[in-house]
Amino acid sequence: MDSYVKNFIIASVVYLGISSLFGIMMMASPAHLTLKFVHSHLMLLGWVTMMIYGVGYHVLPRFAGRLIKSRKAAEAQFWLANIGLIGMVISYTIPAYYSAQECVLRIAGAAFGIMEAASIMLFVYNMLATLVPKPEHPA
Ligand code: HEM
Repeated sequence: MDSYVKNFIIASVVYLGISSLFGIMMMASPAHLTLKFVHSHLMLLGWVTMMIYGVGYHVLPRFAGRLIKSRKAAEAQFWLANIGLIGMVISYTIPAYYSAQECVLRIAGAAFGIMEAASIMLFVYNMLATLVPKPEHPA
């Protein structure tokens, strides 16, 4: 199994475990509903999406009988996706608990959001470049 496949699958199950705890906190007390953004994004961009990245990188090139277009892009995507997600949830949550420079956090949140989107685009590129066959040139 490639390292980026394993890393995505490990990160995915870790996010599932952590995010379940945030879900339980919200169940226990409505005061914690401020964590809804954290819970839903760790579940969907963490657990669900990273499991799909990991399994997708492993099986989709094999289904197509090809090698992945870029292993380096897949490795970079892993870091972008994780830094982007953790940065997004932290910069979104801090103002809910502490009086902080909201403007700075919004800019930071947007920057982390751009990292997350860049990671999504890298996956789109890598998958399409791997799976979509190049047209044959006439001899
Ligand atoms: C231990 C398991 C889980 C618990 C205890 C839990 C609990 C909760 C709670 C209490 C809320 C807030 C509901 C409200 O607005 O009053 C919530 C929202 C949400 N949960 Fe979970 N959840 C769990 C698993 C999951 C999973 C597996 C996913 C997706 C893969 C998920 C996705 C979401 C989303 C998207 C929201 C936001 C819904 C909205 O804004 O209306 N949750 N969850």
